[in-house]
Amino acid sequence: MKGVILAGGLGTRLYPLTHATNKHLLPVFDKPMIHYPIQTLVNTGIEEILVVVGGPHSGDFIRVLKNGQDFGIKHLEYAYQDSGDGGIADALRLAQDFADSDSLTVILGDNCTDADIKKEVKNFKGGALIFLKEVPDPHRFGIAELDPKDKTKVIDIVEKPKKPKTNLAVTGVYIYDSNVFHHIETIKPSARGQLEITDVNNIYIKEGNLRWAPLNGFWSDAGTFESLYKTNVYWARKNFGKEEKELTTF
Ligand code: G1P
Repeated sequence: MKGVILAGGLGTRLYPLTHATNKHLLPVFDKPMIHYPIQTLVNTGIEEILVVVGGPHSGDFIRVLKNGQDFGIKHLEYAYQDSGDGGIADALRLAQDFADSDSLTVILGDNCTDADIKKEVKNFKGGALIFLKEVPDPHRFGIAELDPKDKTKVIDIVEKPKKPKTNLAVTGVYIYDSNVFHHIETIKPSARGQLEITDVNNIYIKEGNLRWAPLNGFWSDAGTFESLYKTNVYWARKNFGKEEKELTTF
C-alpha cells in the first residue's frame, strides 16, 4: 500500500488567502494544513507517499515538506498537475507510475481528520473503499445512498446534490486498487469541468466492488472560510486539552 495526497487546484474559494500560497499550506492551528493528511497516512504505516501539487505556488511545498524525513516518510515524491482545477480524478491519474500496480490510500490535501484508518488500510483486499461521515450540510459533498435492505452496501453517490437523499458525506479519504486508473480513463468532465472522483466511485459501485467504512473521529474539508476557521478551532482546543466531545465534523 502506498499513499497519495492530492494538493493541486487553485483554491479559488479561499481567495485572497490563496493568492499568497497554496490552500494546503495555509495554517490549521500550529501546522500547515497538509501536515494533517500526511500524519493520517503515516499513522497507518504507509512509508511511500506521492503529493500531487498544482497552481502558482507549487514550489512552496518543497520548503514545507522537503524529503519527508521529518514525518518518518521513507520515500516522498511530487507530481505536478498542469490543468488548474481539472478535478480530483484528473490529479489522481498522475499517480499511475508511482502506484506501479500497488493499491493506494488517497487523501485530499484539505481533509483534516484524527480518525485512525490503520485497520482498513491493513485489511484492504481490492476494489474501492470509501469512508463516510454524517454531516449537517450534505449539499457541500458527494453524498452516499445505502441499500435500505443491506446498509453495508452503497448503491449510489451524488456529487453535491441539491436535494440530498441522506446526510452521509463521502469524505476525501479513499482506498483503491490499481483498476482506478482504468476507470479514470472512461469518465468525462462534469458540468463544473472536472473529472469527478464521484464518477469513478460510481463505476466501482456498478461493478459491485465498492465497500464503505465510517470515518470515526473529527473530519473536515477545510476548503471554505467557514470550515477552515472551524477546523482551526477544533485543533486549537484539542491541543489545549479542551476537546469538544460533541464536535465531530463541520
Ligand atoms: C470533493 C469531492 C466530494 C467530497 C469532498 C470531500 O469535493 O468531489 O465528493 O465529498 O471532496 O472533501 P470538492 O472539494 O472538490 O468540492
